[in-house]
Amino acid sequence: MDPLRPFHPETSSVSEGFDPRLSVMAVRPPIFPVSTFAFASAEQAAHSFEIALGKLPALPGEDVGLIYARLNHPNAEMFEAALCTAEQGAVAAAVFTSGMSAITTLLLTLARPGSVVLYQRPVYGGTDHFLRHILPEWNVEAVPVVDGGWQQALERHRERLAVVYLETPANPTLHMIDLRAVAAHVRGAVPDRRVPIVVDNTFLGPVFQSPLLHGVDVCVYSATKFLGGHSDVLAGAMTSRDAELVTRVKQTRAFLGTISEPFTAWMLQRSMATLWLRMVKQSKNARRLVEALKAHPVVERVHYPTESEGEQARIFHQQCTAPGSMVSLELRGGRPAAFRCLNALKLFKLAVSLGGVESLACHPRTTTASEMSEEDLRVGGVTEGLVRLSIGVEYWRDLCADLRQALDAALG
Ligand SMILES: Cc1ncc(COP(=O)(O)O)c(C=O)c1O
Repeated sequence: MDPLRPFHPETSSVSEGFDPRLSVMAVRPPIFPVSTFAFASAEQAAHSFEIALGKLPALPGEDVGLIYARLNHPNAEMFEAALCTAEQGAVAAAVFTSGMSAITTLLLTLARPGSVVLYQRPVYGGTDHFLRHILPEWNVEAVPVVDGGWQQALERHRERLAVVYLETPANPTLHMIDLRAVAAHVRGAVPDRRVPIVVDNTFLGPVFQSPLLHGVDVCVYSATKFLGGHSDVLAGAMTSRDAELVTRVKQTRAFLGTISEPFTAWMLQRSMATLWLRMVKQSKNARRLVEALKAHPVVERVHYPTESEGEQARIFHQQCTAPGSMVSLELRGGRPAAFRCLNALKLFKLAVSLGGVESLACHPRTTTASEMSEEDLRVGGVTEGLVRLSIGVEYWRDLCADLRQALDAALG
């Protein structure tokens, strides 16, 4: 046993998941653009298939090895190992072609026709669409729950409950959910079996929020965002404290073909080495911008964890170690003011997505959240005047100057 281990996740995200001895002593992981892997014997091939298809359990410590890149490949394994060490409380991880394929592969593994998924609004628009429009076609009922409604929803649906799905802070209003409280409700209402609680941890994880330490079973990520971090890959990931659950999801992934290919997995692992640097700098930048601009006359309200009050502030301090770099500004003057602001930006790029090194701005109501129902928009606080910002790693005073002149333009 190495007395230096375990390392802090900031260290392990740089160094873990890769053994140079397996790759001609290269200090960083090479790319393995390979679709199929050779077996030592026909017997080994047969045995590997039995385990991979779940017909035979693997013996403790037994490694089936690699078979075919839709099931697994070295770059996926290396990234998964690195992410697993970065996520506190995780024992296994899986990589996917996108955040949506991580979410859908997971939900298709856990839900069954006739079962119920309880979820708290708002969630990302694509997730919302899958829950409200696609799962019902497979006879899975997705039931939205609002703050304070968990007890009642659980009493009503506990028999058929397959999954609890949460997103915190939520896109785009940064509304936070008390994970420990929801976990206590779920465990209390369904004591006889473990209903998986899933959290979309894209906005703060794994650096500033560790849901697996707060009673949650699975984290999902759009790795397109902070994990990738450069707006140049589309990918997804999940981490869990339940290795068996991850094995089941990987079996579904093999049949849906939702594993990311070697180059993308390699790009993700490359990004892991700078994840802490980027997210810490981005969060500092966002905090400074919020401080500098929250009193601007066109800003009616700032949605940002350090600006929250009461229960939301309590949750932030209990659950998160920094506010992150997503900021939503509620502008006076509704959609016209929001559009004037967006059209005046010069350094910020007008684009959806988030978590990259460059700063981005968008109008959720007409873009990422445009498919949400009127009721969800109202409950979720996605108003006409809301502008969402993803703060990058640029020098903060340049960002501040750009945003200030755009907010001045929004005054009309
Ligand atoms: C919070 C959140 N979850 C999931 C997704 C879906 O991820 P992807 O676009 O990588 O499929 C997004 C995309 O914007 C997101 O913001």
